[in-house]
Amino acid sequence: MSQMKSISHLDNAPSTPGKFKMDKSPYIHRLRWHSSMAKIAFYSFVFVGILLVFFLRSPSPTSSAAAAADPARRALITSTWGGASWEKRVRSSARVRTPRGITVLVTGAGGFVGVHVSLALKRRGDGVLGLDNFNDYYDPSLKRDRQALLERSGVFVVEGDINDGALLRKLFDVVPFSHVMHLAAQAGVRYAMQNPSSYVHSNIAGLVSVLEACKSANPQPAVVWASSSSVYGLNSKVPFSERDRTDQPASLYAATKKAGEEIAHTYNHIYGLSITGLRFFTVYGPWGRPDMAYFFFTKDILSGRSINIFEGPNHGTVARDFTYIDDIVKGCLASLDTAEKSTGSGGKKKAPAQLRVFNLGNTSPVPVTELVSILEKLLKVKANKKMLKMPRNGDVQFTHANISLAQKELGYKPTTDLQTGLKKFVKWYLGYNSIMGRKSVG
Ligand SMILES: NC(=O)c1ccc[n+]([C@@H]2O[C@H](COP(=O)([O-])OP(=O)(O)OC[C@H]3O[C@@H](n4cnc5c(N)ncnc54)[C@H](O)[C@@H]3O)[C@@H](O)[C@H]2O)c1
Repeated sequence: MSQMKSISHLDNAPSTPGKFKMDKSPYIHRLRWHSSMAKIAFYSFVFVGILLVFFLRSPSPTSSAAAAADPARRALITSTWGGASWEKRVRSSARVRTPRGITVLVTGAGGFVGVHVSLALKRRGDGVLGLDNFNDYYDPSLKRDRQALLERSGVFVVEGDINDGALLRKLFDVVPFSHVMHLAAQAGVRYAMQNPSSYVHSNIAGLVSVLEACKSANPQPAVVWASSSSVYGLNSKVPFSERDRTDQPASLYAATKKAGEEIAHTYNHIYGLSITGLRFFTVYGPWGRPDMAYFFFTKDILSGRSINIFEGPNHGTVARDFTYIDDIVKGCLASLDTAEKSTGSGGKKKAPAQLRVFNLGNTSPVPVTELVSILEKLLKVKANKKMLKMPRNGDVQFTHANISLAQKELGYKPTTDLQTGLKKFVKWYLGYNSIMGRKSVG
């Protein structure tokens, strides 16, 4: 007991002996005042803490060491959106200007196919809103120049990541999109060996995020999205038909596109989303992608650098079904125009909905050696060529599209041959690099 007493005595001991006197009432009063101040301070601290948590979880830009180290998260947090003037720009960009126009959210609008599709829709009088995270997979200044081109045509490109569910919900709150043209993805076959998670982030998680927003929207939009000819993988039966097997992908990129087709099936089956997948075959043209052979061959031929040309086993030809961008755009618009309405609402399926897959190619494969000869003639420069065995890093030897289904259902009919298309590309490339006063993009 005496021990207890002495402990309780110690508990009451002031930190500075002699200053704290328990038995004088004015001090007791002051003590009470101190303790209520401490309570107020504590609750204020908790309140500020809660505010801070909400602020950090909000979609406005934030940064942290962890996020900065992760490119996927970095892309997510660099978006800025919201506010009255932002909503006004969103509405104005998405406003339809023709009686039977559609309202389309174009993801990946800062990209090669995205800029062309957005411009074509806007020209027809459709409402168009772009979305892109402007990542640095290739020179982002090219994406910014495409964005500037779109801005001049009245298309606003919201800067944000397709994985940002709150942003997507906000966009659907502001605009009841009738269609989504989903082109945002991590493209490129070889880069998948360097940065595999970027493919999972954009092509799988990102696709699910877009489909989640679409299935919950009311009305649900019809979705047209970019798959890829790469899903044919090691399939050796040519030309590739939509009925051919697609279970032997040769790259992680191809595997994510194949996974996307299965995910699309699920959302169609469960939620009644109308979904059309487009398997593009090697798209080329003005405002193209610097990571693609026709683009970096042009740059390297002009600068006198040697170019590597791959060949298959036993000096076999490597060929591609090169498809000009204007033909791809026609296929995309025809897909949007023929897409039936989704049947669900509020996340619930009401009836079966349309599910389609189309090849969009040129249906005339050209050997890569011939691509180089055409470029040499157009650039009036002889290429310094190195023939190499094709490495096993995701590329396939041959692509050739059977387009009869797209012809029948979409009226799709490509009209630009490689010679004509490359001439347009080279003209753009030379003009772009001289006007922009650059050393050359890529
Ligand atoms: N160009 C081709 O030859 C080809 C062939 C087959 C399939 N495709 C597919 O077509 C689509 C368009 O290809 P492209 O050639 O225009 O490529 P691109 O890289 O030029 O365009 C894709 C755009 O999406 C954006 N993006 C990527 N991840 C994003 C994310 N998480 N959130 C928001 N934006 C994101 C990029 O910044 C880029 O601007 C892609 O889905 C691609 O896989 C293209």
